[in-house]
Amino acid sequence: MKVRVLGAGAGGGFPQWNCNCYQCSRLRRGELRASYRTQSSITVSSDGYNWLLFNASPDIRSQLEAFTAIQPRHGVRDSGIKAIVLIDSQIDHTTGLLMLRESTVPLEVYCSDMVRQDLTSGFPLFNMLEHYCTVNHHSVPLDGGAFEIPGIADLRLYSHALKSKAPPYSPHRHDAHPGDNIGVTIEQISSGRRLYYAPGLGEIEPHVFQTMNDADCLLIDGTFWQHDEMSKAGICEKLALEMGHLPQSGHGGMIETLKAFENNRKILIHINNTNPILNEDSSERKQLNAERIEVAYDGMEIEL
Ligand code: MLT
Ligand code: MN
Ligand code: ZN
Repeated sequence: MKVRVLGAGAGGGFPQWNCNCYQCSRLRRGELRASYRTQSSITVSSDGYNWLLFNASPDIRSQLEAFTAIQPRHGVRDSGIKAIVLIDSQIDHTTGLLMLRESTVPLEVYCSDMVRQDLTSGFPLFNMLEHYCTVNHHSVPLDGGAFEIPGIADLRLYSHALKSKAPPYSPHRHDAHPGDNIGVTIEQISSGRRLYYAPGLGEIEPHVFQTMNDADCLLIDGTFWQHDEMSKAGICEKLALEMGHLPQSGHGGMIETLKAFENNRKILIHINNTNPILNEDSSERKQLNAERIEVAYDGMEIEL
């Protein structure tokens, strides 16, 4: 199975357009050993031709231009993207659907009923796309159930609801529902190899722990180092867990949790621009290295 990280940054990317924080300003000036990151998305394929897109970021144009294997091959209009899985309805994961409006076939979108509700109400992308390529929505299981996707040979998916948060424009923002956010296992049927993908992971419940243990590779929430990182940077008062993201440091944090996963490859993704792990010379990054936890970057390829 081939996995390509299209964008490893959280909402806003790195650097963020209006951000003058320690890291964004130094990156722009070339004073930070770190790489630019676009917003959160990956793509997976078994055959290298037919790709399943996970999330559609506002940066999708440049992400696709940077990845030859997914570009058009046949006829005057074509794409390697055969279907799209959305893990939530956040702006950084869904706005790219609008950039795909020129598609000559309907977009085959797999997401929860909750995400569909948001994308037909508070952020009505599906309604807007009715005037362009149209969307075929497919509901995904929330109980860890399996599904396969026509046109995507040799991959089987398993999805479950995660404890996280619906976005600010969701009609149920303050009333969490199963399916506001999901985690997905992607299994290559021929080899049995498994990737677990969850860029928004606020709490690792027992069933999530088991699912993670069963995966060869974890590609999981790397948004924040500290719970109050944004307020410490003087940006806003939002706390990591309030946003549905488990911070890496501290008691019960991601680093401590990942100690239990000795045999799995561990990679953090969806990294916010305030997170010091972006700085390759930081002590926080060195701590991750010592724990054999990797940090995803744009263009990273994982072969499973
Ligand atoms: C999140 O995952 O919490 C988002 O990146 C926030 C945002 O896009 O504003
Ligand atoms: Mn996000
Ligand atoms: Zn910044």
